[in-house]
Amino acid sequence: MPKPADTLAKLPPRAGGRYIRNMIARLRDTLGLFTELRRGYGDIVRYRILFWEFCIVFDPELIREVVDEQRSSFEKGFIYKRNTVLHGPTIVTGDGQDHKRRRRIIQPFFHREALAGYAETMAQRAVVKREEWRHGRIIDADTEMRDLTLSISLNIFFEDGMQIDVKMARDLVALLTLDFQLALLPGRALIKRALPRYRRLLRRKGPMDEIIVASIRAARAAPAGSRTDLTAFLACAGDEQGGPAFSEDEVLDEVIEMLMASHETTGATLAWAFYFLSRNPAARERMEREVDAVLEGRPATLKDYDRLVYTRAVLDETLRLAAPAYYIGRQAVADCAIGGYAVPAGANVQLCCYFSHRDARHFPQPDRFLPERWTAPQPERPKYAYMPFGAGSRGCVGEAFARMSAVYALAAVAQRWRLEVVSERPPALNTMAGYFFRNGLPVRAHDRSRETRDG
Ligand code: HEM
Repeated sequence: MPKPADTLAKLPPRAGGRYIRNMIARLRDTLGLFTELRRGYGDIVRYRILFWEFCIVFDPELIREVVDEQRSSFEKGFIYKRNTVLHGPTIVTGDGQDHKRRRRIIQPFFHREALAGYAETMAQRAVVKREEWRHGRIIDADTEMRDLTLSISLNIFFEDGMQIDVKMARDLVALLTLDFQLALLPGRALIKRALPRYRRLLRRKGPMDEIIVASIRAARAAPAGSRTDLTAFLACAGDEQGGPAFSEDEVLDEVIEMLMASHETTGATLAWAFYFLSRNPAARERMEREVDAVLEGRPATLKDYDRLVYTRAVLDETLRLAAPAYYIGRQAVADCAIGGYAVPAGANVQLCCYFSHRDARHFPQPDRFLPERWTAPQPERPKYAYMPFGAGSRGCVGEAFARMSAVYALAAVAQRWRLEVVSERPPALNTMAGYFFRNGLPVRAHDRSRETRDG
């Protein structure tokens, strides 16, 4: 029997301001909105903003209902389907059998054995990035870490020496992000045509597409197994009938989507890790001691990954307190119920892990940054009480890739630098589409070797 929540939560207008302005302010401060809803209504809340109806789910058990028990009742959602930069669905935006097929074909690229082949590139890229910094200078750790993750992805997704640089990739990601943000607006086709920034970014995508298409063609003409990059892997993947699994446009779209999925998430996670380490010197020193003992001054290699136990715990703890994808979206395909509460077809269902990651029942002293909680045996907790990489059959396909590249990046930076957050104040957040810094993360770079020398 559906429970009363079939009534919509009432969002009281914020002080001063009209309805539309209020609602837009709420959309912009998404985490503030979620906090208000959870405080006022509990584990599952239906609400409406402008023309859209939402149902937000905070409780891990109810999240399990959505992603495991009733997964056929939910799709990825209309916002993803409104993308006009790509030619069609991808592993990220597709649904049903189409999504399953894409995932089955793509997954082997991210298997542990395959990842072993990328370890060296990941570690090398991190070393190259850290050598760009100068002692005592202020850098924006957020931009630096995003650029590092882009450069790792570019080196692994594309053929060696391909003419795509971080700047081009950054523009492409900016275009996809903008397209995604505009997806909510009525009249978006007109807006896109009128917006100079959108038009400029779209023009810049052309040359990159041409380079990637040429690479796809070259991969198909090359001897089997001669290339190990993602573009070649997708270009040469076969279907059941022995033909190519993907068209040229599909390979192009998948590669671009993969750049998008890998870059902001991993980059922001790394910046957050350096933020927490700067605020928690004991944890930072412990990680530095581990990195120094395991690496003995050389770049990390594959076998070091398992030995960097505390560094991996720093990553887990960062993802608990600052999961970049702190909520994920679905759309109900039919009328259904979650935890007995009626949810109408078409409602946008948001699954939010922010509060369960900070729930003292699952994580004692939840507001403290304590990497050591991950080095001890884990207490019993609901399956999705911790889900920085999503949940169910759509969980992050790049999780192992992300973990490996992040651990090598943390180790490479900590080996040489201490990054001190410049401001004493908590950083301003942008929580609309993820848990991100609004204005970057200025840090001062201290060369660790100088500090030892200087006593
Ligand atoms: C710290 C880094 C990362 C985090 C926190 C993260 C988080 C997530 C989350 C929460 C989802 C689920 C989205 C949903 O259900 O709607 C997801 C999906 C996905 N991620 Fe990641 N991700 C990270 C890095 C990566 C990397 C490095 C790659 C690729 C190299 C990647 C590729 C993908 C793809 C393709 C999907 C869609 C999977 C599907 O729908 O089947 N991610 N990620």
